[in-house]
Amino acid sequence: MTQQNASATDVELEIQDLSHDGRGIGRLDGRVVFVDGALPGDRVAVRLLPERRRQLHADLRRILQPSPQRRRPPCILADHCGGCSLQPLSDAGQQQWKQRSLEQALQRIAGLSPEVLPLLESDRPLGYRNRAVIPLERSEDGHLKAGYYRRGSHRIVNMNRCPVLDPRIDALIAPLKRDLETSDWPVDRHGLSEGGLKHLALRVGHHSGEVLITLIASHQDFDGLEVLAQSWMERWPEVVGVSLNLQPRPTNQLFGPNTYTVAGRGWLSESFAGLKYHIAADTFFQVHTTQAERLVPLLLQGLGGNQDPATNTESLLLDAFCGIGTFSLPLAAAGWRVHGIEQHPPAVALAQLNAAGNNLSDRATFEIAAVATALPALLDSAQALLLDPPRKGLETHVMAAILATPPRRLLYLSCDPATLSRDLGMLCAEVYTARSVQPIDFFPNTSHIEALAVLERRT
Ligand SMILES: C[S@@+](CC[C@H](N)C(=O)[O-])C[C@H]1O[C@@H](n2cnc3c(N)ncnc32)[C@H](O)[C@@H]1O
Repeated sequence: MTQQNASATDVELEIQDLSHDGRGIGRLDGRVVFVDGALPGDRVAVRLLPERRRQLHADLRRILQPSPQRRRPPCILADHCGGCSLQPLSDAGQQQWKQRSLEQALQRIAGLSPEVLPLLESDRPLGYRNRAVIPLERSEDGHLKAGYYRRGSHRIVNMNRCPVLDPRIDALIAPLKRDLETSDWPVDRHGLSEGGLKHLALRVGHHSGEVLITLIASHQDFDGLEVLAQSWMERWPEVVGVSLNLQPRPTNQLFGPNTYTVAGRGWLSESFAGLKYHIAADTFFQVHTTQAERLVPLLLQGLGGNQDPATNTESLLLDAFCGIGTFSLPLAAAGWRVHGIEQHPPAVALAQLNAAGNNLSDRATFEIAAVATALPALLDSAQALLLDPPRKGLETHVMAAILATPPRRLLYLSCDPATLSRDLGMLCAEVYTARSVQPIDFFPNTSHIEALAVLERRT
């Protein structure tokens, strides 16, 4: 229910839901209004903003009656920083919303109501992220700012710590900022200035404790970088390497194609699901290690037996979008023959190295290729397919190839319920049945939702 307030410009709204990106949703005269910072159950006073692309957005002015699920956010910057939009919502409220949003997306977008299993909660809602890539900026007076962008802007919310980060990398932000500030090195302001540092990237091995520091910059002319990098390694023995990644282009892609090791090594060692891995500064790795490990038995269960009944040999599993072999290797260790497809050459090099390091090279092979190019020719010989695409989901060409030659089992790991639902709608129209969908909380305090769908071919 809505009503006009005494003020001509403010209106009162009851917030009924959250959008996929964590904005409060209310209704005004039957129209949806998006309100940043508002939660379901809040009664709020808002000021309407000019209509954008036929959508109504409003600024939150006051919370008149807070939602019973509202809490004091664990991060002091939560009201400003665009990093974690669900901080003011209780852990239980976040979990309920994630569960419901996934179910609703599957129903609304695909008309599907598979069994959606209860969300696997994270044992730690804070301190879980093993990686941060933090934008940098230098103010007119020379101060260095580091922080995530205010939502919908390129204005950095300056921070010294971020409570969702693993404390072992969180503790490095403030001292690294101080050193970079005194360095006087130029900072590239969103590609608008003469060039310089762009981002500070930190990565920690959750189990090993090894840390990598990486500076992402538009060029490599930083006087004294080697000396400073060496001093970081001496000061913090857990830091095993300092790298410089070159990203000369103003693009959304944080990392450029070339990474140089400045001190120590360009990779950290980590264990995952009982196996040994090398992870580089610029290769993809799941940010919540322990939640990702919980997926391994679910993948094995979803895949079923690994014997091909036709030939009585081990079945072939294709791992499309395989990264450094995060899931390929535990599945190979459990008896599958795995072939991984990945387009990022350094990730494939590490996947091969990781296979060799675990004596799995004979049953886990990898190739550098776009999935759309390599997958179609391989489907015929595969009994199972694991898909873990980026947010945009499957390309039309990939979907057409799978529908033409569908492997018996298909597992789809997704970080976007909308594209997952769109793709499951197509896969389950005639060819597959969705056995279950398992949401897993990989990103507590943010609106991101991870889910694993287990599909079985109908005939
Ligand atoms: C969500 S990550 C998953 C990686 C891996 N499954 C894991 O859990 O570590 C997606 C991966 O797909 C790769 N990728 C993105 N688009 C691709 C494409 N069209 N063809 C092949 N690989 C792609 C990215 O480089 C990235 O490593």
